[in-house]
Amino acid sequence: MSKIRKIAILTSGGDAPGMNAAIRAVVRGALYHGLAVMGCQRGFQGLIENRLQEMSSQSVSNIIQRGGTILESARSEAFRRVEGRRLAYQHLSAHGIDALVVIGGDGSFTGASLLAGEFDFPVVGIPGTIDNDLDGTDHTIGYDTALNTVVEAVDKIRDTASSHRRLFFVEVMGRDAGFLALHSGIACGAEAILVPEVHSDYQALDAYLGGSRIKGKSSSIVLVAEGEHCGGALKAAEWVAREHPEYDVRVSILGHIQRGGAPSAMDRVLASRMGVAAIEALLAGERDVMIGVINHEMVRVPFEQAIKHKKRLQPELLTLIEVLSI
Ligand code: F6P
Repeated sequence: MSKIRKIAILTSGGDAPGMNAAIRAVVRGALYHGLAVMGCQRGFQGLIENRLQEMSSQSVSNIIQRGGTILESARSEAFRRVEGRRLAYQHLSAHGIDALVVIGGDGSFTGASLLAGEFDFPVVGIPGTIDNDLDGTDHTIGYDTALNTVVEAVDKIRDTASSHRRLFFVEVMGRDAGFLALHSGIACGAEAILVPEVHSDYQALDAYLGGSRIKGKSSSIVLVAEGEHCGGALKAAEWVAREHPEYDVRVSILGHIQRGGAPSAMDRVLASRMGVAAIEALLAGERDVMIGVINHEMVRVPFEQAIKHKKRLQPELLTLIEVLSI
């Protein structure tokens, strides 16, 4: 028999579309199994500030379709220190909470894992980040929606790029990961991509531009992940404008529109499955694990693996861009 009677839930780090659907699934999954649930506002910072409130089935009505997170999110500096985590643990204990569900990305799971280890407290993570950069899961919540947002934006940019025979550098989110850039690049027929995982430099860009000139392309789209090594879309565009004045270069930085909006059906289903799987994991005595999806099946992955192992871009997808941009 599980000793867990009451859980808390929070969202942490950058918000992602589908986090609300995951909150709903955790709350209703917990209630279904007879557990009480408290929601914590503003992530780990909220735990430190004791911002916990009882949640009911009604508190998560009408949110499955909404972007953002009703629990709000934060990147907490105080939680990086053991004193902050101790205060958070004291508040959890004072409310009689036996376990915590954290929806977030790698930074959030690093904090979650520390809390679990230091205070022997059960914590289960649900991957919510548009970056899709957690190992041990094929997809993270929010990635599919963000990918579709990027694709819609780049399609529009292509209309004007081809009308004016321009070269566009489109910058997408991804400080350390190129999943959004690579997959949207394929989906939008980009001529090239720049991602953090591949050490591109201006020589590589030069080679690409030379090739594109030979091919006689009149307009081009280059998808740039913000964390790539040339210094981002603005730097790359400045360099091309200086070295290749024959190009009419423009830059479009998509920014935070990628994080907002109604979650896609894929993200809603994924979030619903993961939320209930998180409760089942806690009831089965799991702690210090993230819920993942591998080949459409729910899995439990140690936090350590999710955080420390870098999820790789599929090399064949990198080649695909080259093949398809001839
Ligand atoms: O971690 C997700 C992410 O969207 C990154 O891709 C991006 O670099 C970062 O968040 C931006 O965070 P903030 O909203 O705090 O500027």
